[in-house]
Amino acid sequence: MLLRIPHVLTPEELAQVRQLILVADWADGRITAGRQSGSVKNNRQLPEELPAAQQARHIVSVALARNPLFVTGALPKSVYPPLFNRYSGDANSFGNHIDNAVRTHAATARHVRTDISCTLFLSDADSYDGGELVVQDTYGEQRLKFAAGDLVMYPGTSLHRVEPVTRGERLACFFWVESMVRSAAQRSLLYDMDMAITALRQADLAQNSELSQSPLNSERSEVVKLTGCYHNLLRMWADV
Ligand code: NI
Repeated sequence: MLLRIPHVLTPEELAQVRQLILVADWADGRITAGRQSGSVKNNRQLPEELPAAQQARHIVSVALARNPLFVTGALPKSVYPPLFNRYSGDANSFGNHIDNAVRTHAATARHVRTDISCTLFLSDADSYDGGELVVQDTYGEQRLKFAAGDLVMYPGTSLHRVEPVTRGERLACFFWVESMVRSAAQRSLLYDMDMAITALRQADLAQNSELSQSPLNSERSEVVKLTGCYHNLLRMWADV
């Protein structure tokens, strides 16, 4: 499942993150690459121990934790602390690769299995040319270039690349999620079910308020049962 989540960062948070990282000292992007991805990676990356990276990471982490779509789409068990990259000038692309299966956080030695890869766009889409995130999925190639502040998540098993940036600069935040539900197919099913139940509940609430009925004790038994099915499936599949 490839999921776009709009407005993960508020305009204020976006401005803060950009301000913090733009003036920091960037390094060669190969600092976190494996052998294969290192041979096709040509970008810059913010060293994770820099104070600017820590502050920007905190802003992103707070925004992720409060975002219901991120939580229901990823069912996060563990999130690798967000990293930041930059594509411009001569360091402007990242060829086809699949992300490493396990990332080990240097500071804590904590392992994160990369079930889900995430990119949070930090540059306005019209401020640069190229720079599309191209993800191969079941239905072919998806070419993704979203508004600043929007996030995309896709299965960590996907072959993907970032096209060369030929004008301007592409700033992004990227990270991985180890999900409570390891299987992408099971996560996708749970997500669809959760969204459908939420829509049903909202429609019922709207109807009840039109009829001036109390929202309390008015949930249809079908909605209660479906919600129970969601939780029982999650219980069956979750590894916490
Ligand atoms: Ni990647």
